Amino acid sequence: TIFDLQGMRQGRLRLAAVTTTKYFLPKLLKPFCQLYPGVKLSLEFTNHEALLARMHENLDDLYIMSCPPNREDIEVRPFLANPLVAIAPASHRFAHQRDLSLKAFAEEPLIMREEGSGTRKVVEQFFKQHEIDLQINIELGSNEAIQQAVIDGLGVSIISMHTLNCAEVRNQLAILDIDHFPIHRQWQIIFPKKKQLPITASTFLEYLLKESQRFSANKENPMQVVEALWI
Ligand code: PGA
Repeated sequence: TIFDLQGMRQGRLRLAAVTTTKYFLPKLLKPFCQLYPGVKLSLEFTNHEALLARMHENLDDLYIMSCPPNREDIEVRPFLANPLVAIAPASHRFAHQRDLSLKAFAEEPLIMREEGSGTRKVVEQFFKQHEIDLQINIELGSNEAIQQAVIDGLGVSIISMHTLNCAEVRNQLAILDIDHFPIHRQWQIIFPKKKQLPITASTFLEYLLKESQRFSANKENPMQVVEALWI
C-alpha cells in the first residue's frame, strides 16, 4: 500500500545485537541501505544481558542473540550458526595436537568474557554439563581484547568463531582440536510477540532470513558457514 511504501521511504529501523555479530552484520546492511536509502537505521552492539534489558525497555525493533530466553511472549527466528571455538597462541604446545581432552584444556589459564556475556554463559553451562571445574583467570569485556591477550600468551580462551574474521589475528592464533568442540550455537532474531513490527523491521527481518539461507546453503557444517563469511 501507499502507506507501506511511505514507511520504507522515511521510516526508522532500530536494531540491537550481541557483540559476536558485529564482525559480519554491518556487511549485510549495505544492500539493504542501498535499496531503502530513506530508512534511518541504528544498530547497537552489546552483550546478552544488556540486550535483554533493552528488550525489556522496548528500545529496539529487532534483537539478535544466541540463547534467547525461554519465554512464550517472544518470537524467535533462527538466523545463522555461531560456533564457539577454543583458541591458543599459534606457538602453544596444544596448537598441533589432535583430540585434546577437555580436562587438559581446562588446566590452562583461561581468559573469558565478562559476566552477562552470552558466550560466557554457554561456556560455563558446557563445562558444567561435562562435569569439569572451570577456573577463569582473566575476565575481559571485549572479544578483541581476548584475542590480543591470547596472542600475548596470557592464556587460552573460548570465543565465537565469527570474531576471528581478521586474517592477521588468525595467523597468530590456533583453533584447538578439542573433544566436543566447537560448541554449537545459533544466532536468533527475536522480538516481542505483542509488538506490531514497523514495516521497516518486518522488511529487514525477511531480508535477514533470506540472506541466512543463502549463506548456509551448500555448507556441510557451521564452521564452513563462518569461514565463508570471513571472505
Ligand atoms: P555475547 O554474545 O557474548 O556478546 O553476550 C553472545 C551471543 O552470541 O548471544
